[in-house]
Amino acid sequence: MSKNKIIRKSLIEDLYHHFNKKINFLTKEEKDLIENFKFNQRIDTYFIVRDVEHKRHKNRDTYFLLITLQDVTGEFVAKKWDMPYHKAKGISDEIKGKIIRISGIIREFNDSLYIEIDKDKEIEILSPDNCSVDLLKKSVKKSPDYLLEQIFLIIDNELDDDDWKKLANAIHEDDKICERLKIAPASTKFHQNYSSGLIEHIYEMLKKFLDEIKNNNLNCNKDLVIMAILTHDIGKIDSYDGLDYSYKITKKEKKWGHSLISIEIVLEKILGIENFDENKKTELIYLIENHMKNKVNYKDSVTKELNILRLLDSYNAGMSKFRL
Ligand SMILES: [Fe+2]
Repeated sequence: MSKNKIIRKSLIEDLYHHFNKKINFLTKEEKDLIENFKFNQRIDTYFIVRDVEHKRHKNRDTYFLLITLQDVTGEFVAKKWDMPYHKAKGISDEIKGKIIRISGIIREFNDSLYIEIDKDKEIEILSPDNCSVDLLKKSVKKSPDYLLEQIFLIIDNELDDDDWKKLANAIHEDDKICERLKIAPASTKFHQNYSSGLIEHIYEMLKKFLDEIKNNNLNCNKDLVIMAILTHDIGKIDSYDGLDYSYKITKKEKKWGHSLISIEIVLEKILGIENFDENKKTELIYLIENHMKNKVNYKDSVTKELNILRLLDSYNAGMSKFRL
């Protein structure tokens, strides 16, 4: 085939694929968003499968699927009734973490709404190319590389103490930690549960703290709070395994919790720093260990730095829920 003919053929193929993608593209209208669902509404749209279980019907030998769906506005339950065990198990293995299209009716049971999936229609798995993925999942607004670079730049400029600078550098120089930091979510459910959510959370807490310091002249150990912001959730790099569009909790997270994993990472880095001050180590581990335990508490038994860390943490996690 001549060169011109080859170019022409590939152009036609490109156009064909482009056109094909377009005709397969499924739009999502306002009524298709979870926050707008109403009793008795007919549904024919797509979602991310956050979770799926196959359960046996009471008094029957057949199974049903209990699917937790997600879009950018929330979560919703869907049920598909009556199927043999092998089919229910097969579908639930296949759709976990994927984008699916379903049709059905919104029903009510025990004051809660759910979608009853049409019996005669199969659940369809969709390619992200054919959907508005932005309407299914929130995402970070700045690039993970930018966020990582900014965090360590800010920290380097703001820290006064040499031990803390060495600890921050040791974390920054660990490629494995940085690569995982760039992709890990901040949680599976509660806040910033999307790729790079963790690094966004750390960056925003840091910025908020430094704004407070600048505008309100806070009375606290600034270096200690900065290091606690950087490390309090760092263990989350080992807390979640990614599926296509959702995350599951690792065995280590289930057994240890992310605070303990964070402490493990920090202690390992401190061990590599000669003559690291014992008091600073104790203070930082105290903050990491306790950041999740209680709400803000102004009694003397809780340090200013721990209260500040908890306030920044819950403020950022809470506010992130209201973002589009
Ligand atoms: Fe946090």
